[in-house]
Amino acid sequence: MTEAAGRPRVLVTRRIPDAGLERVLAATRADLWDDELPPPRDELLRRVAGVDGLLSLLTDQVDDELLDAAGPQLKVVSNFAVGFDNVDVPACTARGIPVGNTPGVLTETTADLAFALLMAVARRLTEGYDYVRADRWLTWGPMLLMGSDIHGGTLGIVGFGRIGREMAKRGSGFGMRILYHDVQRATAEDEAALRAEPAGLETLLAESDFISLHTNLSPETQHLLDAAAFRRMKRGAIVINTSRGPVIDHDALAEALRSGHLGGAGLDVTEPEPMRADHPLLSLPNCLVVPHIASASHATRARMAEMAADNLLAGVAGERLPTPVNPEVYDRPPAA
Ligand code: GLV
Repeated sequence: MTEAAGRPRVLVTRRIPDAGLERVLAATRADLWDDELPPPRDELLRRVAGVDGLLSLLTDQVDDELLDAAGPQLKVVSNFAVGFDNVDVPACTARGIPVGNTPGVLTETTADLAFALLMAVARRLTEGYDYVRADRWLTWGPMLLMGSDIHGGTLGIVGFGRIGREMAKRGSGFGMRILYHDVQRATAEDEAALRAEPAGLETLLAESDFISLHTNLSPETQHLLDAAAFRRMKRGAIVINTSRGPVIDHDALAEALRSGHLGGAGLDVTEPEPMRADHPLLSLPNCLVVPHIASASHATRARMAEMAADNLLAGVAGERLPTPVNPEVYDRPPAA
């Protein structure tokens, strides 16, 4: 048997930065799906058969069908993302398969993008850029492209985990009042350090000038911002989403923007993804959409690749993953 033949077999569903990919390629017999687009479902099901490890992306649905197609030797699912709503974690746990994600390393980078969206929408940057490019800039205008002040505004943060807290820091730095809503209250020390006040969702919606979503996607948060929620917001409020698209009802958002009740929206995530260019939201000048790039800095994506490789290689070696999302998998009694 050659040395390579003894290595674990893995499927990597897209090219990730070399910082992680090179280690995976060196230590495994890897099948790399090297295409710009994700593997179509039938291709994914075919290629996953018989692998020991799967390095998946948030564009791959990891569910019972895929786990069946993989087979009982599958030892690990390493998801190249902090979010893992694309993975049926209970199904993996039931089969004794640890699932890894990439927490921590993308926190600040994601908050940076959320704040960039907030600033761009508040100060109408894309509208200004379009205006100049369309050669409509004829003179200085006393009322040209007036927007909303960021300083002195109230920033309502929904979901006060790692990224939400980084968003709070950025808001505080700009002299904003910070409200947060989370099922879990932060400690008094954290609230004081971040200058953030807890608030019920109703209060947060009613009092915030900017509402930024940092929650995970679950049945409880699906369409958390719907028509009723938009009605409760202040006239002129701006909504930012860098969490998951389905947390917002996009039809209701389009209506709230069109009616003028909302001042604008900045979306890094949409429902569905990708959002096609003929989507009604893209015809609205006060809606800025970018293609799910919140963690896309060179340094952060390299760190994510390293973590995804660490999880994958630990999993195929039968070792505990450095960052498992289902640590309970290690408490299960061994299969009889
Ligand atoms: C990106 O959305 C991630 O979850 O890492």
